[in-house]
Parts: sequence; structure tokens; C-alpha cells
Amino acid sequence: MGIQRRLVGSYLLVTCITVLILEIFLLVSVKYYYVHNVERFLMNQGELSASFFQQYFADEDVEKQSERLLKGFAHNSDAQVQILTASGNLLQDSTGLQSTKLLIQFQDVLTASQGVVGRWKGTEPVTQEPILAVSFPLIAKEKTVGIVRFVTSLTDTNRTVNQISMILIVAGIIVIVMVTSLSVFLSRTITKSIKDLKRAADRMTEGDFSVRAHIRYRDELGSLAETLNMMASKVVQNEKLKNEFISSVSHELRTPLTSIKGWVITLKSNGGENKPLLLEGLDIMESESERLTDMVDELLDFSKLDNGRITLQLGPVHVSEFLHQIGKQLAPRAARQGVKFEIEAEETLSVIQADSNRLKQVMLNLIDNALKFTDPYERILIQASSAQGGVVISVQDTGSGIGEEDLANVRNKFYKVDKHASGSGLGLSISEQIVKLHHGELRITSQIGVGTTVQIFLPSNLTIS
Ligand SMILES: Nc1ncnc2c1ncn2[C@@H]1O[C@H](COP(=O)(O)OP(=O)(O)OP(=O)(O)O)[C@@H](O)[C@H]1O
Ligand SMILES: [Mg+2]
Repeated sequence: MGIQRRLVGSYLLVTCITVLILEIFLLVSVKYYYVHNVERFLMNQGELSASFFQQYFADEDVEKQSERLLKGFAHNSDAQVQILTASGNLLQDSTGLQSTKLLIQFQDVLTASQGVVGRWKGTEPVTQEPILAVSFPLIAKEKTVGIVRFVTSLTDTNRTVNQISMILIVAGIIVIVMVTSLSVFLSRTITKSIKDLKRAADRMTEGDFSVRAHIRYRDELGSLAETLNMMASKVVQNEKLKNEFISSVSHELRTPLTSIKGWVITLKSNGGENKPLLLEGLDIMESESERLTDMVDELLDFSKLDNGRITLQLGPVHVSEFLHQIGKQLAPRAARQGVKFEIEAEETLSVIQADSNRLKQVMLNLIDNALKFTDPYERILIQASSAQGGVVISVQDTGSGIGEEDLANVRNKFYKVDKHASGSGLGLSISEQIVKLHHGELRITSQIGVGTTVQIFLPSNLTIS
């Protein structure tokens, strides 16, 4: 069953049950209230008449004085008043109509004849009118000597009760109709959003990521649509990055291969005689193969990191020593490029637990970036200092810098600001993952034309279970 039917159905069910219970309660209450009012009125009059009789007429003969009694009792009453003998025979009737003389058949009269107040509600046998009757025993010297009976028609009361009931029923129906239309409207707003989402998701499964789910309302479904749209953009972006990556990697792989192939052809034709040329060619082929191996290693590393298949080989790392060692390795390249290269690390820095090979990989990546994007006469500064719970190592350059929009993406795999620059765009992504494996943090701040600073925080007493 669809959401709309389920929603509307449950709303309708709850409303109908509530309205039904309320209506029954109200109808019963209204009826009881009106009939009870009439009855109380009759009772009051009966009570008054009975006590009046007991006080002033107790010595007199009911049968003989019936006319006088009737006058007295009927004086203040709109109801039909009857005077009866103790055995239930009608003596007087205020309406003058005397349909039956034997009234003992009525429950109220029967009860009153036994000295107790009686009440009866029912249909008048002759006129078929609904009536309410109360009978009071007239007591003299502790004996029931007669009965006074008050009778009133319930036709008017019933009509009023019926009118009110009609109003209540119509109000109930209006409430049900209103709630139903409201729930239909409400569920439509939900199902429409869901249908939009489904349509967009369907198109996306078919491979069309240019569609966007329509956002109708700023609610949970709206934010779901937003997420879906964002996902689609990410897929498109990843697809683009993947294609760029494939073309840039093929290009990167092709360059050393072309050079190797060129040398092989050269050496084949005249390498045998020319010894210096042979050596030069072999040297270049060796370094180009190394470049190829490094590149393939980086790619393999990346896929391992991405699948979480890398575990750290933890050991104590003396940060300052470690940085100076790396500095020694890279200083010649910096000198070749004419970039100033400095390391500032206090000897007193705490020894941290880390995987020195992986950490070296991170530092080489960061310094490689700094060297790649820094012009001659600029400066690269590597610093290390203690921080709460660990150390912070920073690589700062005064190079080209990164724009705000690119800064948000440079850690993404395959992302390069300049699509044609050398490199696979994996360095920062790999570095960040390694730092995260160390439970550390990698932060990049940069400004175009001013330079870039990459900071890594590493906790000092890392234990990995
Ligand atoms: N120090 C920096 N100065 C300016 N731009 C930088 C710097 N470091 C990184 N970038 C930008 O971020 C991009 C991504 O860097 P990343 O190290 O991930 O990849 P890469 O250096 O291009 O390739 P790889 O490191 O895989 O050889 C770079 O292409 C460059 O555009
Ligand atoms: Mg790099």
C-alpha cells in the first residue's frame, strides 16, 4: 500500500474513532441532560404537592376533596396533573381527558401505590406520545391514601434533543471531511517529494548524472534531495578526475618509456662502438626506469591505503634527527633549483611513536610539492615544535600558493590545480591518509602569491591495537 493511502487511512481511522466516541458521549449527555431536567421539574412539583398534602389536607378524604386538591396542585404547573386513589383509580385529571381510569398498569402508579415515589418513561397507549410521569403517594397517618401524578409530554424535549444531535452529527462529518482533505493534501506534499526523488534516482541508476532532484520543501526530504544531488555532483567530479588521472598517468608513464625507447634505438644502431654514449644511455635508462618504478609504487601504495590494507610498523622516531636526515637527502635538489632550504627543529623535541618509513614518505611528498611550486630565490622552511600531546611539523614555502576553491580539493585523490602539471595528484591524499593512520591531523593553509604551509600534528604516545 502506498504512503498516501496509509497516511490518509490512518488519519481517517483515528479521526472517525475519536469523532464517534465524542459524538456518542455528547448525544447521550444531551439527551440525559434534557430528560433529566424535565424529570427534576416534575419531581420538584410532586414533592411539593405531596408535602403540601401531608401538612394541610391529611385529615380529609381524598376521594371527596379530589377536585380541590387538583386545583391546588395544578395551580402552579404546566404539566398534566392527575389525582388517583391509593389503588390507582383516576379521580381527577387537569386536562379533563380521561382515557383510562385504571392507571395501576403504569409502573410509576404501581410503585406509588406501595408508598414509594414512582417514575415512568414510555409511550402513551392512546395518543402514542412519548411521555414522562412521576407519581407521589399522598400520605396521611402513615398510610397511602391517594396518589398525585404529574405527566408531561416529551415530544418537544425529544425534538430539541434531535435538533442538537443533528448539529453534532453534521459537525462531526465536517471534521472528518476536513481532516481527510488535510491529510490528503499533507500526504501529497510528501509523496510528491518522494516521487521526485525516485525519478531522479532512477535516472541516475541509468547513468544520467546531469539530473537533479527537485527540492520542494526545506524538510527532511528536501535535505535528502540535496544529498542526492550532491552525490551526483561528486560522481560527476570523480568521473572527471578519473579520466584526467588516466590521461595524466599515461602521459607520465609514456615520457620515461619514450626516452628509454629512444635510447634503445640509438644504442642499437651505434652503441657497440661508442663506449661513452653507451654508458650515458644506460645511465639515463636506469634513472628513467627508477622513475617508472617510483610512480608504479606510488599507485600501488595508494590503492593499498585506499583499501585500508596498510598497517604501521611503529617505532620510536626522534623528530629532529629524522628531519635533518630528510633535509640532507633533499638539499642537493633545492640547491639545484636555487631555492633556500632551511630546517628548524629543537633537539629537545620528544621522541614520538611512528612508522618512520611512512612518515618519510609524507615529508618527501610535502617537500616535493613545495619544491615543485616554488621559484628560485624563494624559501622553504621546515619546522618542528612541541604541541599538546605531540609534535607539529610544518613545511612552509613562499611559492605560488593555492586558491581558496582549490584548497578545499587538493587533498582529494587525483586532484591537481594545473591539470597539465607533472604528478598524479595523489601525494597529499596519500600523506593525509598516513597521518590519519597515526591518529594525527594534516592542515593546509595557503594564499595565492604568498605561499603554502602544510602542518602535520602527530601524537607522541601512539599505540595502535
Ligand atoms: N606547496 C604547494 N604550493 C602550491 N600548490 C600546491 C602545493 N602543494 C600542493 N599543491 C597543489 O595541490 C595539488 C595536489 O598535490 P598532490 O601532492 O596531491 O599531487 P601532485 O603533487 O600534483 O602529484 P604527486 O604528489 O602525486 O606527484 C598539486 O597538483 C598542486 O596543484
Ligand atoms: Mg605531490
